[in-house]
Formats: sequence, C-alpha cells, structure tokens
Amino acid sequence: MSTTFQLDTSTSRANPTPQPMKRLTVPALRKRKKDGATQQPLVVLTAYTARQAQLLDAHCDLLLVGDSLGQVVYGLPSTVPVTLEMMANHAAAVVRGSYHAVVAVDMPFGSYEASPAQAFESAAYLMKASGAAAVKLEGGAVMAETVRFLVERGIPVVGHVGLTPQAVNVLGGYGARGKSDAEADKIVADARALDEAGAFAIVVEGVLEPIAEAVTATVACPTIGIGASAKCDGQVLVTEDMLGMFERVPRFVKRYENLAETIAAAARQFAAEVRDRTFPGPDQTYHAD
Ligand code: KIV
Repeated sequence: MSTTFQLDTSTSRANPTPQPMKRLTVPALRKRKKDGATQQPLVVLTAYTARQAQLLDAHCDLLLVGDSLGQVVYGLPSTVPVTLEMMANHAAAVVRGSYHAVVAVDMPFGSYEASPAQAFESAAYLMKASGAAAVKLEGGAVMAETVRFLVERGIPVVGHVGLTPQAVNVLGGYGARGKSDAEADKIVADARALDEAGAFAIVVEGVLEPIAEAVTATVACPTIGIGASAKCDGQVLVTEDMLGMFERVPRFVKRYENLAETIAAAARQFAAEVRDRTFPGPDQTYHAD
C-alpha cells in the first residue's frame, strides 16, 4: 500500500493544522542533552493513527509509532507477530497527522536482528513508506554494530534497553529488569554500547530506578524512561495507557484520564436512544427546505 499522501485539510474531519511550522529534527533532540545535563526533558508519547498524532503533536518532541500497537490496536498477545507493513501503514498515518514532532517508528521483531544489511533494508522501507525520520530497535551491545551501520548510512536510531518486550519469550514475562548485579551491569553496558554506536536517544524500560539513573549518567545521548526514573532525560508512555483506555496497565503508568469509562458511557447512551427511537432527532435528519 502506498502511504505517503498528505493530509487533505479540506476533506479531513479535523481542523486544519493551526500553523504549519518547521518540524523538529533528530539533531535538535540529540542536542537537548549537553555535558550530561538535559535542560528540557524530551516529551514522548506513542501514536498509531493520524487523529491521535494531530492531538498529541503540539505537546510532544517525539511521536513513537510503537510496536505496542500489536496489543493496543490489534489485540495480539505480544509484539512478536507485528509486521513491517503494519508499522509502515501506521507510521505513515502518524506522519500525515503531525507537523511538529519527530516521528520514530519501531522496527518489528524479525525485521532487523539477523544482520545489519537486513536492518538497513527494513529501516529504509519503513522510512520511505511512511516519511518517518527515525527508527527504534530493541537490544543492547549485540545490536551496536547494526546501529552503527544504520547511522552511518543515514538512518537515525533510537535504542531500547532493559525490559525489551520483543524478547518476552526469552525473558518469560514483563517484570522489571536488573534485579541482580550482573543484569544491572549488563543493562548499563548495553546502553553505553548503543550510545557509542551512534543512537541519538535510548529508551530505558522497566528497570530498577538506580539502573536508569546509572544509564542516564553514563550515556551522552538522552535517555527516555518508561518504568525507569524521573531522572531520565525524557519520558514516554503508551498513549492509550495514560488515557485510561485499559483496565490493566503496568504499575509505572499514570492514568491522566479515564477514557474507557467515557467511551462506554457514550455507547450506553447511544444504544438507549436508538432503542427508544430518540436518535436521530430533528437536528440529525434531512428535510426538504
Ligand atoms: O512499543 C512501544 O510502544 C514502545 C514504548 C513503550 C517505549 O516501545
């Protein structure tokens, strides 16, 4: 499917972009951290659709088209079955719906681990098909060569260490990582390897807080925490989680809304009005002039 259309503001249901502006760039985000300090933390949310992107864009530095869409949008049991085509299509929608934030797209399981060449082919496809400016991939030192290969060939990369959900079948679950000294040391070493390989930011997910602090103090690039620490250089949440769309969320999620209840209440009222024939009313029906 060809995906890089522009959003047509005359046919879109949303208001036109209020004020088209120059999009943030990867180097601008990378420069937010200087000499170990980040003055302005990076604000990151996931987005999977054009409308979601429109609503989040002005408030975010980075919109992440996460492979969490496998569970959130498609009802899959994990991120493992997510495909490149799914990521490309959702990323294209998010690019169409945004004008300010950098859009980064997750490389799905199986699309990059075999070799740097495989990763380049997959990442180039995602960027061409969607217009996204960067990719994210999971894994530490073992992916450093691939990160370097991509960056040297024009593909900005966000790393991802700690709890790496694509490895759920090896990890055995989604619990916090770094509970032994050896594992904690490995997470810090993994982040250092990605930083040295040229990642422009690193997601640190589901780790004991001192590990997130150690990673943030160790790497030159910004860290983006999720279930990590307020001391990270930025924070990310899955948007549907923070909007209260789900009953069960990890403990690191803060719900800023309760949209599940709001949507259920609206559907309940619609159903009642259809059944008692009060919808549609005069305002929602056409009549000859
Ligand atoms: O897939 C995703 O949404 C992610 C974020 C939660 C970091 O990787």
